[in-house]
This record gives sequence, structure tokens and C-alpha cells, in this order.
Amino acid sequence: MVVLMMVIGLAVSFLLTCSALLRWNEVRYRKKGLPPGTMGWPLFGETTEFLKQGPSFMKNQRLRYGSLFKSHILGCPTVVCMDPELNRFVLMNEGKGFIPGYPQSMLDILGRSNIASVHGELHKTMRSAMLGLVSPPMIRDQLLPKIDEFMRSYIDNWSGQVIDLQEKTKEMALMSALKQIASIETGPVSEALKGELFKLVLGTLSLPINFPGTNYHHGLKARKKLVSMLQCLIDERRSSSCSYNDMLDSLLKSHGSSKAKLDDEQIIDLIIALVYSGYETVSTTSMMAVKYLHDHPRALEELRNEHSEIRKGKSREDAIDWNNYKSMRFTRAVILETLRMATVVNGVLRKTTQDVPMKGFVIPKGWRIYVYTREINYDPAMYPEPLTFNPWRWLDKNLESHQHFMLFGGGGRMCPGKELGTAEIATFLHYFVTRYRWEEVGVNNILKFPRVQAPDGLRIRVWDR
Ligand code: HEM
Repeated sequence: MVVLMMVIGLAVSFLLTCSALLRWNEVRYRKKGLPPGTMGWPLFGETTEFLKQGPSFMKNQRLRYGSLFKSHILGCPTVVCMDPELNRFVLMNEGKGFIPGYPQSMLDILGRSNIASVHGELHKTMRSAMLGLVSPPMIRDQLLPKIDEFMRSYIDNWSGQVIDLQEKTKEMALMSALKQIASIETGPVSEALKGELFKLVLGTLSLPINFPGTNYHHGLKARKKLVSMLQCLIDERRSSSCSYNDMLDSLLKSHGSSKAKLDDEQIIDLIIALVYSGYETVSTTSMMAVKYLHDHPRALEELRNEHSEIRKGKSREDAIDWNNYKSMRFTRAVILETLRMATVVNGVLRKTTQDVPMKGFVIPKGWRIYVYTREINYDPAMYPEPLTFNPWRWLDKNLESHQHFMLFGGGGRMCPGKELGTAEIATFLHYFVTRYRWEEVGVNNILKFPRVQAPDGLRIRVWDR
């Protein structure tokens, strides 16, 4: 009896403490003018609910509080914005007090000159340097030939094997980027860089706890090693008389010129940002495109016809060129539909630099705004039968120029690598579908949130056609 009383007493005091903590956290953030919502637990907020329930958490909160609500996620008081008009407004108006608001771990590991976190004049300089590297003429003349050569040899010996497509596409995105950036081919240098880059990526997605054994700690160490490797590469290039015809060469040649005045630290941070931003976006979209094509034979047939037409009159060794790439209308539609359904970027984060009025509310200075764009991808008004994989919808009307099209962000931070990323995925698909047939092995579980991934890999058996 005494034990039972003690257990009940403990349970009651536990419940009272929990409710007092929740209440205290609500009161702490009760400020006039804030949108409705809940703040969860002190320190942790509603991060666990957000990460566990993902899109359902967002939808439930929207049902209760409307499309602008407050919460506390990923360590910061945050206003989640699911209103397409407002999202557009935030992205188009960085100058009105909405600077990038990415987590501390990301800023520490990607560097202080990382394009995604700087703003104002430095952002302009870094962005113009980045745009110069990945412009359509650069893709046509320098990058596409490299991508073509890389993809052709990368998928060369897959026939007769069972491969983990997730692993392969990850390596593919990274190695293809290294070739474009610094003409690095598969070998000891690429292996060393690859190991550090994988650790760096994991570190940016972790809590900023710098303790041996944590992903954040490994990420910081990986950054240090990468910086020193890239600095050696820059020094070697400077002391060499050879010309390399790659991104690093372009950056070093414009060094000191009036075009883009980047110092070595900025060049290194730009290279890291290039690899980082293109890595998961390109690899996951390539993997998911293959998955959707496998599950939708009619789309695969149409895609294959498009690519077989391009190969007509070419030998096995002939590369694809810019005109071939531009003629891939259906392939582009498959890539956009894949990006829509397997949303790699659920939204983007901004931080307020002053109190900003939004829809009758006032968002206090220093709060995060989570511009949550994922729901637009499933809006039946914009995409009828949104849960159906239907690449043809992108051919019917020009959805890409719709003002709420945000697969690549918007405003002054619209993805500068969208054409390059599309060209990489398209080239991979070109060689993959013209050379091979494939089937999935076993049941491959795919998670869509918080990241699109196959937790146990995506295994496929591949044959020659
Ligand atoms: C094909 C898949 C891709 C998708 C879906 C994608 C998506 C996005 C999105 C949504 C943003 C906006 C971020 C923000 O507003 O804070 C962005 C920015 C960015 N992306 Fe991409 N991206 C892709 C490929 C690439 C590639 C291949 C590169 C490498 C060249 C790249 C480089 C960047 C950079 C550097 C930024 C930051 C731009 C700035 O802050 O001015 N992306 N991307």
C-alpha cells in the first residue's frame, strides 16, 4: 500500500513538474503580436515532435493555428510559415530583415564565408563568383563534357551486379563534383577528400556539441583537414605553369581581378559550399528518379525513347552535347516530378534582423522563420492528384514559371546550381537507361522525412539491355 502511494505520489509530482515546465515555456515566449502556437519544452521545444511526426506535425499545427504559427524547433524560437504568398514575400525581401538563419553546426563547419550564410555585399561577391562557375555557357563548354566522361565510366561495369543505388549515387555526386572543381579523378586524393567530406556533411546535421565522438566534433576536424588539403591544392596550382580548365582554375585566374575579389579562405569556402549543396540534392534525386521510373513503366518507356533517339547515329563512345541535353524535355519533367514528390529541401531558414510585421503579427528580432515550402508540392490546386507520379504534368503548362514554384528556392538566393544539378541527373539517366535494365531486389524502405533516404540502401539488380 505504501509503495503504491509512493508511486502515485511520484507520478503526480512528475505530471505537475511537466505541466509547470510547459506552462513556464509558454509564458516565457508570450509576447504581444506573436502568431499563435505552442513552444513545447524548455530548451528542446517541439524538436522531437517535429522530427518524429514531420509533415503531420506541420499539418496538425496549421489546422489548429493557421498557416503562420510559432514553435520552438532545432534549438530556436521559430515562426513556421506555410502560406505560399508569405513564403514568397520572405524569400524576395532579404533586405527587409530576413537574413539566412541556418543552424550553428552548419555555419561552424561550412565556414564563415559560406555563401548560404553571408549576406549583404559579401553575399553579392560570393554569388557572382558562384554564378560565373555554373552559368549555362560554362556548363555547355566545360562542365557537360566532364560530366559526360565521368558518368560514362562511372556506371560502366554495373551489368550483372546487385548494387546499392543509394551508395552509388552518393559517390557519383561527390566524385563528379571533384572532377568539375579541380580535375580530381578517382585515386588516393579523391579517397582522402571523400572521407573528410562525408564526415563534414554529417557534422552539419548534428547538435553543436564539441565533444570527442560527436558528429559535430568529427565535422569540425574534417573541415580543418579539408581546408588544409584545399590550401595545398591552391598553392600547387599557383606554383605550376599548367592550365587546368576547371572551376578552381577559373577562381584562381579571377583572383585579384576586378571580377571577383575572393581571397583563399573565400575560395575554399566556396568550393566546400559547391560540393555540399550539390551532394545530397543530386544524389537523392538521381536515386529517387530511378525508383519512380522502376515503379512507372510507361514513364520509363517514354524516357528511354527520348534517350534512344539522342543516341541514334552516335557510337558508344560519342558524348552527349548541349543540344542533346536541351532536347531532353521529358527527362527534365521526370527530374522536376521527382523533386516535387521526393522533396529534398523541405524549406529554408531565415533569421529576423529586426521586429518584422507579417500578416498582422510581429515577429521579434532574432527569431527564425522556417519558410516551409514542402506543402506547396502537394497542393492539389497547383498539382492535381498530387500523390501520383506524373511527369507529363510538367509538359502541359509552364509550371516552372508559376510564382509558387519553389523547388529551387526563390528571390536573391534562388539555387545557382539548378541547371548544373539537372544536367548531372539527366546525364546519369541518359547512360543508365540506354545501357541497362534493372529490377529492385527485395523490399526497399524509403523514408521521406526529415531526409529522403533508404535507411537500409536501395538494392537493384542490373543487366545490359
Ligand atoms: C538539383 C537539385 C538541387 C536542389 C533541389 C537545390 C535546391 C536549393 C534551394 C531550395 C536553395 C535555396 C536555399 C535558401 O534559400 O536558403 C539552394 C541554394 C543553393 N544551391 Fe542548390 N539545389 C540543387 C542543386 C545544387 C547544385 C548542383 C549546386 C552546386 C553548384 C547548388 C548550389 C547551391 C548554392 C551555392 C546555394 C546557396 C545560394 C545562395 O545562398 O545565394 N545547388 N538550392
